[in-house]
Amino acid sequence: MIPITKPFLTEDEVELARQAILSGWVTQGPRVKEFEDKFASFVGAKHACAVSSCTTALHLALLAVGVRPGDIVLTVSHSFIATANSARYCAAEPVFVDVEKDGYNMCPDHLEKILTQECLRDAQGLWYRHVKDLLSEESPLVSMAGDPSRRLGRIAAIIAVHQLGFPCQMERILTLAKRFNIPVIEDAAYGIGSEISVDQGKTFEKIGKPHGDIACFSFHPRKILVTGEGGMLTTNDSAHDSFFRLFRHQGMGVSDLARHQANKVILEEYLVTGFNYRMSDIQASIGLGQLKKLPLLLAKLKEIAAFYADALSKISWLQLPSQAPYAINNWGSFPVRLTPQAPVTQEQCMQRLLDRGIATRPGVMNAHRQKPYRSSIWNLPETEKARDTTILLPAFYQITKEELCSVVQAIAEI
Ligand SMILES: Cc1ncc(COP(=O)(O)O)c(C=O)c1O
Repeated sequence: MIPITKPFLTEDEVELARQAILSGWVTQGPRVKEFEDKFASFVGAKHACAVSSCTTALHLALLAVGVRPGDIVLTVSHSFIATANSARYCAAEPVFVDVEKDGYNMCPDHLEKILTQECLRDAQGLWYRHVKDLLSEESPLVSMAGDPSRRLGRIAAIIAVHQLGFPCQMERILTLAKRFNIPVIEDAAYGIGSEISVDQGKTFEKIGKPHGDIACFSFHPRKILVTGEGGMLTTNDSAHDSFFRLFRHQGMGVSDLARHQANKVILEEYLVTGFNYRMSDIQASIGLGQLKKLPLLLAKLKEIAAFYADALSKISWLQLPSQAPYAINNWGSFPVRLTPQAPVTQEQCMQRLLDRGIATRPGVMNAHRQKPYRSSIWNLPETEKARDTTILLPAFYQITKEELCSVVQAIAEI
């Protein structure tokens, strides 16, 4: 069986995890600090704060930029449901922006339309006018005081998702965000190693530098850099970084590491109602091993993408992914789209490949088609098309040339 992906974990990570275990320090400690420092330096950010997942990173990021109960968060439905859920954790509600035509990321034109045509602006900020249409069963807005038909929702943040490692059109998104004074969080769950230009292609910088206010990464096994579970927040704002550290650790005013290293007794205080969103030193030690391998891994993923692009170019009913002029993709995923001329449906195509021992996945899920977010308000044709016509092909470090050839052969036979 050729899996869709496989983490590139070897004896290197086993040895690093072993050392962490035998050191006796198995929760957040010195290895988490080392992982954070090396991660920050890899992406070029001033600060990196490790947490238990990208989901918890998104929650902290929204709280840090001031998302409060009753607010609106603009994001995409075309993402793992964690992105939308993170708004709900703040008792806020997501409003979904469609993705670009034939693309995987937030469409800046649609974003602009929502900001200019579906909102009101006053001295206090920008207000979404259609709150009454968002009142699905689980929406936190349902239980809030006041007449829902007259309620407005403050636009408190934008979450731009760099889906499947394809960088968003950040230059345009940031220009709009600046115009309306809205903080931007980058969901970079898949973004490690991708690069982005915000000066029309003159210079490129790593995703996570960050280009918005905060970027959030995932280290789940479907991603390129894997620690099992795990996440990271990067920012250049030291106040945000202090906020993350306080809230990930139950609001404790001093870290375990600082207390351990102090030569004076420290009686800790709890300053806010925080969470347990910590990463462990065992996970961080695996992350340190993965960071070392990252250049090797990214180079291999680029080779795989180049191979697929060349070998599949003759299949007329497939639309192949391309790299935007403002982007350098990490190619952690290779999504292909079935055109209307395809001789099979998406499901039939996936089944034919599975019959040949090849695992694939459909396009990225749509949160607005799932029960917690269903509403008649959504009109997201490109989001739905991306889900319904895309197939993700196997792409991972250990895949062999023979396996890649057999994927191409199986598609050619269809
Ligand atoms: C775009 C996106 N955001 C957030 C997440 C959540 O990441 P985690 O599983 O680390 O919480 C995922 C996970 O797949 C994702 O794909």
